[in-house]
Amino acid sequence: MKILSIETSCDETSLAVVEAKGGRTPFDLPQFRIEKSLVASQINIHRPFGGVVPNLAKREHLKNLPILYNQIFGTGNKEKTLWDKIDLIAVTVGPGLEPALWSGIEFAKELAKRNNKPLAGANHLEGHLYSFLLKRAAGNKLKASESFPAIALIVSGGHTILLQMDNLYRWRKIGETRDDAVGEAYDKVARLLGLEYPGGPEIEKLARLGNPKVIDFPRPMIYHRNYDFSFSGLKTSVRYYLATHPGIEKKPGAKADIAASFQAAAFDVLSHKTGRAIYASGAKSLLVSGGVSINKALRRRFQKDFGREVKVYFPHRELCNDNAAMIAAASYIRFVQGKKYRPVAQANLNM
Ligand code: KG4
Ligand code: ZN
Repeated sequence: MKILSIETSCDETSLAVVEAKGGRTPFDLPQFRIEKSLVASQINIHRPFGGVVPNLAKREHLKNLPILYNQIFGTGNKEKTLWDKIDLIAVTVGPGLEPALWSGIEFAKELAKRNNKPLAGANHLEGHLYSFLLKRAAGNKLKASESFPAIALIVSGGHTILLQMDNLYRWRKIGETRDDAVGEAYDKVARLLGLEYPGGPEIEKLARLGNPKVIDFPRPMIYHRNYDFSFSGLKTSVRYYLATHPGIEKKPGAKADIAASFQAAAFDVLSHKTGRAIYASGAKSLLVSGGVSINKALRRRFQKDFGREVKVYFPHRELCNDNAAMIAAASYIRFVQGKKYRPVAQANLNM
C-alpha cells in the first residue's frame, strides 16, 4: 500500500510517499520503498534563539506544508493520478511541540477529507525506532530470525530510551533518561562552548580535534543497577569546568578537549547500559536510532563494543533526523496490527 506521511513535531516540516508491503506477521519484516521524501528544515530560523521556538515552528510548518505538498503532488491531472494511488495518510501526533503537531494534524485532516482517504496518527518515537527498516542497500535483506530478540536505543533531542524487543511489534521499555536527553545535553554543552544550534553536529566536529582523556567528566548512573540515564549532571559538570577555568573556551585546543571529553563520558554511559541490556536479554541485535545516531563516533563505538556479539543496525544517515518517511513506517506497522493513533496532538506521548 502507498502512504502519504506528514511530520511536523519539531523544527522539520516533512512529507513523504512510501510504498509498504509485507510485515503481516512478526516473522515477515515489512519492506518499504521511499518514493518521495522532502524535508524543509527550520534550523536557520531558530538558530538565533539557540533552540526551537514553538510558535515560530508552527508558523513555518503552516508556510512549508503547502509548498512541499505542491512539490510532490503538483496540480490537475498529476495531483489526481497520485491521489488515486494513495491508500493511507499518516501524521505524527506526538511527542513534540503541541502547536507544531497541530499544524501537521490539521493539514492531514483536511487532505483526508478532501480526498476521502483514511487517516492514521503515528508515534514519532516509533518512527525513529523503525527507521532502520527504510532505505536499505539492495541485497541487504533483514531477517526477523536473525534480528530478534533485540535491544533498541533511541537517542534524540527529547528522548533517551532503552527498549527490549521480542519482535518488531512487541517491546517493553526498560529504561530512559530521568532528566535531559542525550541530544539535549549536546545542545546545552554546545551553547556553553559558544557553538551554534543544533549542538550535536558542532560538538561531533570539534571532538574530532580533541583528546577525550583530558577531562574526566562524571559518568552519571553508570553503575546503577537499572537501565535509566541522567545527562543533566554531565552538562552541569561542563558548566562548572568552564567556570573554574575562566577563558579556556577561547583556546581552540582546550575547547576541542572539552567537547571530546564530554562526548566520551556520554558514550561510556550509553554503551555501558546498552551492553548490560544486551547481555541480560540475550539480544541478537542492537537497533540505534534518533538524531544522535547520525554521530559517526557513536556508530564506531557501538560497532567496536558490540559488533562481534550482535548485529548493530543504524538508520540510513538521511533518516536519522526527523523525517516523514519514518512516520509512514511507524503507521504501517501499526496498520498491519489493526491499530492506529487518533489524530489528536499528544505532546507527551511516549513508548
Ligand atoms: O531525532 P531528532 O532529529 O529530533 C528529536 O526527535 O529530538 O534529534 C535531534 C537531536 C538534537 O539534540 C541534535 O543536537 C542531535 O540530535 N544531533 C546530534 C548530531 N546531529 C544531531 N547529536 C550528536 N551528534 C550529531 N552529529
Ligand atoms: Zn525525532
